[in-house]
Amino acid sequence: MFEEAQYFAPVAAQEDGSVVVELAASHPGFADQVYRARRNAIAALALGYRLGTPIPAAEYTEQEHEVWAMVSRELAIKHAKYATAEYLDGVARLGLPAERIPQLEEVSGLLEPLTGFRYLPAAGLVPLRDFYGVLADGFFHSTQYIRHHSVPFYTPEPDVVHEVIGHANALASDRYAALYRLAGQAARRVEGEEALEFVSKVFWFTLEFGVMREQGELRAYGAGILSSYGEIEEFRGMDIRPLELAAMGTTHYDITKYQDVLFAAESLEHLEDVVGGFWATCDDDSIARLMASAV
Ligand SMILES: [Fe+2]
Repeated sequence: MFEEAQYFAPVAAQEDGSVVVELAASHPGFADQVYRARRNAIAALALGYRLGTPIPAAEYTEQEHEVWAMVSRELAIKHAKYATAEYLDGVARLGLPAERIPQLEEVSGLLEPLTGFRYLPAAGLVPLRDFYGVLADGFFHSTQYIRHHSVPFYTPEPDVVHEVIGHANALASDRYAALYRLAGQAARRVEGEEALEFVSKVFWFTLEFGVMREQGELRAYGAGILSSYGEIEEFRGMDIRPLELAAMGTTHYDITKYQDVLFAAESLEHLEDVVGGFWATCDDDSIARLMASAV
């Protein structure tokens, strides 16, 4: 999931118990009352969810399953060209359905035997500390709705395509899953909001938008790139910088546009050493020093 507040449509629980997702006027589904009713119902499922129970199934239409099938097919073609070998191994291990949207409970069922990760439904924005903290326990907060069918290759918000194709395929890798867990441990360890923000930015520039050199080519492992039909074709032309913690933790990003600054690891081992090592040991003091060194 993306972690910035403005990216998520606000979700409001009404006094009568109903739930309303407030889509912006620019959202492709804004004027589609049937879609909006479904978004409200799906958000209500997440708000009513209790840990330890199966995630309730979301109702998707045939049209929405077709969106998944189309995007899934097109992304698979691009993944073969642009995704890291470790991510592609995750795709093969997980075996997501290609023709219909999997329910989150089903995703958990595929993932848990591989790396122990399970999905949790999120109605919208999850506070940073909760979102990252539970990664340490092998839980991943995920939205459950899918983008509007009128624009199958575009979404203004993180939808189930992003959460599942982007993240679950990565979480099916032992090595990437270990990094997600370390990010969670780091988020639990730090106390200050600035330090938490720093941890989340390092996550953003790696597990969301990370790229890596592999046999002389730049390939992506970040879920944000690998779930974006347009962005995946563009990342090699962006401003590619070395994998430096102080820079990643302090560089500003705009979630509403393609990411034009990316940080490249030289290898998976390099990513594990620099970023995994950071998350494994960081605290408020070490992060304060990194922030001071970036000024
Ligand atoms: Fe994400």
